[in-house]
Amino acid sequence: MENLHDLSFPADFLWGTATAPYQIEGAWNEDGKGPSNWDWRVHNTTYIKDGATGDVAVDHYHRWREDVSLMQQLGLTAYRFGIAWARVQPDGRGAWNAKGLEFYDRLIDALVDAGITPLVTLCHYDVPQALVEQGGWINRDMTGWFADYAEAMARRYGDRVRWWATLNEPICIADGFVPAPDDPHDLAAIQHHLLLAHGRGVQAIRAVNPALQVGLVTCLWPVHPMLGEGNTATIAKPGERLQFAGSAGDTAGAFTPADAIEAARQADIATNRAFLDPIFLGRYPQDILDAPIPRPIRDGDMAIIGTRPDYMGINYYSRIVAAPTRQPDGSIGWRWVGPAERGAPHTTMGWEIYPEGLHETIMMVHREYGAPPIIITENGIAEDDHLDPDGRIRDAYRSEFIAAHLAQISRAIADGARVRGYCCWTLLDNFEWDMGWSQRFGLIYVDHQTLARIVKDSGWWYRDIIAQVRRSSGGSI
Ligand code: FCB
Repeated sequence: MENLHDLSFPADFLWGTATAPYQIEGAWNEDGKGPSNWDWRVHNTTYIKDGATGDVAVDHYHRWREDVSLMQQLGLTAYRFGIAWARVQPDGRGAWNAKGLEFYDRLIDALVDAGITPLVTLCHYDVPQALVEQGGWINRDMTGWFADYAEAMARRYGDRVRWWATLNEPICIADGFVPAPDDPHDLAAIQHHLLLAHGRGVQAIRAVNPALQVGLVTCLWPVHPMLGEGNTATIAKPGERLQFAGSAGDTAGAFTPADAIEAARQADIATNRAFLDPIFLGRYPQDILDAPIPRPIRDGDMAIIGTRPDYMGINYYSRIVAAPTRQPDGSIGWRWVGPAERGAPHTTMGWEIYPEGLHETIMMVHREYGAPPIIITENGIAEDDHLDPDGRIRDAYRSEFIAAHLAQISRAIADGARVRGYCCWTLLDNFEWDMGWSQRFGLIYVDHQTLARIVKDSGWWYRDIIAQVRRSSGGSI
């Protein structure tokens, strides 16, 4: 375990957990909620492991009082959650659903009463299915519908919610679009419209109240190039991107170190810079502009997309190790080399455990994008948790994982980064998208049969950490 006594955090640091509506709420067709793209996906495709659905999920829609009370018991000072657009506006346009709006009113009021700062995400993958039937994110009109929705939410809840995020992980929204577009122009349109919706959302919320803090949440993965195969492979260290210390000669297989670096550069653009450059610099990376399929950029779009956000929400889980591949035309491409293939430690999601990458990611955003305030909006670990006969879940690996990442945040703060908060993914074991019920990420265990909640050892550990930091005046533990 990291020595947490050496760490230091600002006194007003937000200590939270994060959730997403589809993963926890359930009540998929109750109280006037419209169907979402995720309702459609779980009912009409075979993508989801074991045919699981979020129809009931962990029934947060009915158990939210208990869940807020659990957050209080953990001493959280923040809670990141999402609004299900189809719950508040069943068709995504036109009529609002009073019962859906009131659900979030009650939740927000309870959080505020409990001294827990709410952070709201407007689209954590789910959108009303009625809009998908009009093309969804392929249709440019979606950006206007989204901005209208964002404005309405800011009007309704902006008196109690200061922190807003437009979209969660646009890269995953684009990749998870169902049905996957046959026409590559449609994919380019989805990618562009997501960013345009974000920019319009920022402007709409700011027009309601300029004091509200609006950002984008995306998953960032530092990318490290790899050269060679198996035991002879070398991964270039951060800061040594341009050299392979002791690498296997000038070439490994058919590739040179320069090829590996090119592979990593491409992966970095596709994963990180495709989002960071437009929203902070107001332009796409040149590779995207040069791509054979252009994005449908119209005059004025980049200025809207580049409306500077108030903060950056970073979901950090792992790094990408990228190895070069040869494209059919002979040029270099890249492939993700997973930790299992490299014998590196990883979680049940197959993601490498690599805490140092969080410091690297924060510093990259801080240095290259004008030092925005940063919130770590997600970070966590899925493992095979066991409920012991005495009713405990002994998940020391989760506490260690979080401690190691907190140490990297503290390091980044000491290096000048403006990190404002940390939201652990996640509050409750929940419906993990296409992986169904197979992944347990929660600080709180959920019995899949009874939906009973049991705080894991890591949850109590997190409570103690939060309490220690808050007790010490300067914020250090
Ligand atoms: C992130 C998602 C979140 C959850 C975690 C494990 O990419 O934002 O909903 O699924 O991964």
